[in-house]
Amino acid sequence: MRIVVAHPRAEAREQWVRMLGELLPQAQVEGWAPGSAPADYAVGWLDEPGFFDEQTRLRAIFSAGAGVDHLMKQPGLPPQLPVVRLEDAGMGPQMIEYCLHEALRVQRRFDDYAAAQCEGAWRPLPALARTELTVGVFGLGVLGTQVASALAAFGYPVRGYSRSPKAIEGVDCFDERSGLRAFLGACRMLVLLAPLTEATRGLFDAERLGWLPAGAWLVNVARGPLIVDDALLAALDTGQLAGATLDVFAEEPLPPDHPFWRHPKVRITPHVSAMTLVEVSAPQVARKILALERGEAVGGLVDRRRGY
Ligand code: NAP
Ligand code: GLV
Repeated sequence: MRIVVAHPRAEAREQWVRMLGELLPQAQVEGWAPGSAPADYAVGWLDEPGFFDEQTRLRAIFSAGAGVDHLMKQPGLPPQLPVVRLEDAGMGPQMIEYCLHEALRVQRRFDDYAAAQCEGAWRPLPALARTELTVGVFGLGVLGTQVASALAAFGYPVRGYSRSPKAIEGVDCFDERSGLRAFLGACRMLVLLAPLTEATRGLFDAERLGWLPAGAWLVNVARGPLIVDDALLAALDTGQLAGATLDVFAEEPLPPDHPFWRHPKVRITPHVSAMTLVEVSAPQVARKILALERGEAVGGLVDRRRGY
């Protein structure tokens, strides 16, 4: 069995190759480069337009992330090729930490104190009670469910939205039948945690951002193109949004001249809210390769029609 690992970061590529080689000693595991011999399985984060011209005998491809939009946009991705994504793989706890941090930032007004410190001002302010910060989680999948449950357990009123109906203890669940507008109407903080697909691209435009309560806070840990950047900037400037925490962007790295960098109401992190932990992910992928070899079904199989 031959496995190729494609990854734009050499360090990550080498770690995947080493770990999969240890876990699957019967396999020949190599880093992919143009001209690599055809393999049975591929693993990675694809940024290589010619990849599928050469890799013509793959039995499955595994994303090195929870998201698969990087794979879905690759030219030549065979329509029948099984695409498998990471399921949690240690990302859930990271997402919980990140989103809880942002909820506390807003609820305890830490940005106001940072601004007061810059002025040398001793300025106690009334905090919001936890019960006053309703958090909405858009996307109740593997990660969104963990974030929603953790924030609810911490005492925030939490609502969530997904394509199909869900029931999650402590979370007020909305879906396409109840409607996005009803969901957004009470979110003082909105966390985006849904995949980038044709249905979610540009969904958070001026109209949808206008459905949030005035002064809401937006957290995007999903993918940049879910938001229309100009609409977000306008909503921040009018005060419709009090602020935004952005971990993901339409173009990454975020270009140096992008207005988000210097906007006083924007907090930026460089796509780190939940990083791929190769030491957890490689065993998950190895288990799934062995299951596929035995002819068994595996979790995390992407529905190519839905795009996630
Ligand atoms: P997942 O398990 O596939 O869950 C996706 C959720 O989004 C599901 O609840 C799904 O609804 C919902 N959804 C999909 N399309 C929708 C639509 N059009 N309207 C409403 N809801 C929709 O994915 P996951 O593992 O939780 O990961 C979610 C995303 O997070 C990934 O795709 C990736 O882009 C992003 N991510 C980012 C980072 C980072 O570091 N920034 C790290 C990991 C993941 P159903 O339940 O009805 O199918
Ligand atoms: C990271 O963005 C991922 O999709 O895992």
